[in-house]
Amino acid sequence: ALAATATGCTSHDTGSPTSASSAPAASPTPSLNFQAGAAGIGDPYYPTYGNGGYDVASYAIKVKYDPKTNRLNGDVTVTASATADLSTFNLDLRGMTVRSVAVDEKPATQTRTGNELVITPDHGLATGVKFTVRVVYDGVPGSVTDPEVGKMGFFHTADGAFVVGEPESASLWFPVNDHPQDKATYDVQITVPAGLTAISNGVQGPQQTEAGWTTWKWSESKPMASYLTTLAIGDYRVVNSTHKGKPVVLGVTKQLAKGAADTSMSHTVAIADYLESVFGAYPFDSYGGVVVKDDDLHFALECQSRPVYSAGFFRRGVNDSVVVHELAHQWFGDSVSVKTWQDIWLNEGFASYAEWLWAEHKHESTAQAIFDNVYKNSDASIWRTPPAKPGKKELFGDSPYDRGAMALHALRKAVGDKAFFEILKKWAEQKADGVATTDEFVTLAEQVSGKQLDSVFQAWLFGTKKPAKP
Ligand code: ARG
Ligand code: ZN
Repeated sequence: ALAATATGCTSHDTGSPTSASSAPAASPTPSLNFQAGAAGIGDPYYPTYGNGGYDVASYAIKVKYDPKTNRLNGDVTVTASATADLSTFNLDLRGMTVRSVAVDEKPATQTRTGNELVITPDHGLATGVKFTVRVVYDGVPGSVTDPEVGKMGFFHTADGAFVVGEPESASLWFPVNDHPQDKATYDVQITVPAGLTAISNGVQGPQQTEAGWTTWKWSESKPMASYLTTLAIGDYRVVNSTHKGKPVVLGVTKQLAKGAADTSMSHTVAIADYLESVFGAYPFDSYGGVVVKDDDLHFALECQSRPVYSAGFFRRGVNDSVVVHELAHQWFGDSVSVKTWQDIWLNEGFASYAEWLWAEHKHESTAQAIFDNVYKNSDASIWRTPPAKPGKKELFGDSPYDRGAMALHALRKAVGDKAFFEILKKWAEQKADGVATTDEFVTLAEQVSGKQLDSVFQAWLFGTKKPAKP
């Protein structure tokens, strides 16, 4: 679903026409005015990510995965509404073999160009019309390696597989409008050999075993950006519980001896409760976390309601900071998502600052002391790289993280603690389940504080020189 934009356009979730003229009935033969939907959603850094001309409301994903062969069979139904008069439209899909495509249950033709699956329905789709697309496909899902970001996508492990990747991963295992601008709800069914665990996002449904295969069901009822979908299949130590009436699912790979990773995971709800006291209500219907082996993954990702952590974070003992970071992303990144990838500091600066707040809360340090240290010791590249316009190369470099956090601390000093924490809460509340831009954050900060903050934000978010110490 497309979230509300800066200009106040509202989402097209319901698919119901807002005026008679905007929604003619679908014509049996596409009129000359019906056009191909764009092959990208309009992200300046990633022009082919996402697609134009429609808005997804939900994905119903059914996959069967056999770790022995690494093959995945998929059957996915996308429910969307047209936002333009479409003759054809695209989904993003990397690799895999498409066996059939149907639009509104009628066979449609498909071609593949690069990472685009181009679909031509037998009838044009008029603006406002709600439609379904069913894609049946199979193959060995892969990964992509970005020179800056590293390996992303589908990881085959000794005992199964998992999916992690930012800014992309979803298109490696299912056809998708692969950009945070088009958030949607998800139902995921995963069929795996009986005895293995299969975890995804959200709340677990009833489980079924038949002829040696078990089907696990998960559903995420809050809008989710596609890169936050995850799968973790294998031998896991799973601890299920509930917290504030919501399910908690914690999984640690059994390839790891029980220890610091398990203990760190067990701190999840206490950390979420602390963050809730600072940022406002926890945004989702479930909690959790999954730890995978570190030879498979070297980072962590804030997958919605179920972050995935590399075991490497727990090699030297319990690590609460990384849990704080990934859980802070549940508010900033997952509930409030970037409208375009260049705004990444809205995710990483906030999650990093949450770590500073946690240290302050635990009386281990103060945000000021951490700021002073980072300010003093950051190298030249952080001052050359504006966190709010880092460029594709530095998307996950130090600037969006450390200088992004410093920018928040500079804001805190400029407006005082009361206004600062009110800004954070209001931001999480106003943009919940949507997408947001840096400009919108600046506007809110000025509104709440009643201060003109141009020079602070200019220096900390957009400048290419080391700002004076606030
Ligand atoms: N958002 C992730 C985090 O919590 C970063 C993932 C970036 N990917 C990478 N290969 N470093 O920090
Ligand atoms: Zn992060």
